[in-house]
Amino acid sequence: ALAIWHQLTKSEIPELAKASVLIRDRSRVEETIQAMQRAGPDALQVISDFDMTLSRFAHNGKRCPTTHNILDNDLLINDASKKMIRELLNRYYPIEIDATRTVEEKLPHMVEWWTSVHELLIQQKIRRDLLAQAVKQSSAMLREGYKVFFDRLQEQQVPLLIFSAGLGDILEEVIRQNHVFHPNVHVISNYMDFDQSGVLRAFKGQLIHTFNKREGALLHAAHFRELQERPNVLLLGDSLGDLTMADGVVHTQHTLTIGFLNDQVEERKESYVNSYDIVLVKDESMDVPNAILNYIT
Ligand code: TMP
Ligand code: MG
Repeated sequence: ALAIWHQLTKSEIPELAKASVLIRDRSRVEETIQAMQRAGPDALQVISDFDMTLSRFAHNGKRCPTTHNILDNDLLINDASKKMIRELLNRYYPIEIDATRTVEEKLPHMVEWWTSVHELLIQQKIRRDLLAQAVKQSSAMLREGYKVFFDRLQEQQVPLLIFSAGLGDILEEVIRQNHVFHPNVHVISNYMDFDQSGVLRAFKGQLIHTFNKREGALLHAAHFRELQERPNVLLLGDSLGDLTMADGVVHTQHTLTIGFLNDQVEERKESYVNSYDIVLVKDESMDVPNAILNYIT
């Protein structure tokens, strides 16, 4: 196995040998990639988180906004609300990523965070016709190499399910403006409900936050028949909560998980390496997922 691994990293997927790549069980990763390669693109689906996974965590040392934070714009909300959204972020984001708390401890805080922000957005009467402009004015960016990633999946007709606790309307606009909202892309997220005059009045369906993606996955599983016929899953995320995104796929054969570790690296390294098959430390590119996809499709 070691010899094969050596060949896989050195000649086929040299990206896996980069210093920023951490792998707990190299033979498992190697075997999974080989099995996925043998089964080919028809057996594959990709399930990915959006914020801080497909989108960048930072660019030139500056944090990039999540889909919620793209709404932090004068076009859409007043100064008091902007301040409030930032305060909520400063209060709850450290809880979200805290390595010393369990998911159970975090849950009520996440519900509070999302609920407060969504209520605030409804109060501000956000207008649908201004969303595209707010996205244009924001510093949101997809990871380096995103176009190769989306285009290849489309070419190979591999479905890409984007599963986001962010805002569906905004993430769709981000990928549309980057010209990668291809027909193979499906989205599960929090969608806005507008009244007849195009003003936000509620959010549709069950709330999705960072740590209830399992429930969301099970709820939506039946709607994605096409995905049930593809037993191999490449999963991309940046939170430990993202690992449950494939729980709605009933008959999985091989699953390879890739986790972006963007923040609190030393505190969280161990738990990420124990949970994700491949961990990418402060890597703002899609190089590793692209190299793996290039090999298996
Ligand atoms: P994701 O599932 O696409 O990663 O989206 C969820 C992220 O959004 C999560 O990491 C927390 C973040 N978030 C904000 O940045 N601001 C907010 O106001 C809220 C509610 C969430
Ligand atoms: Mg995320």
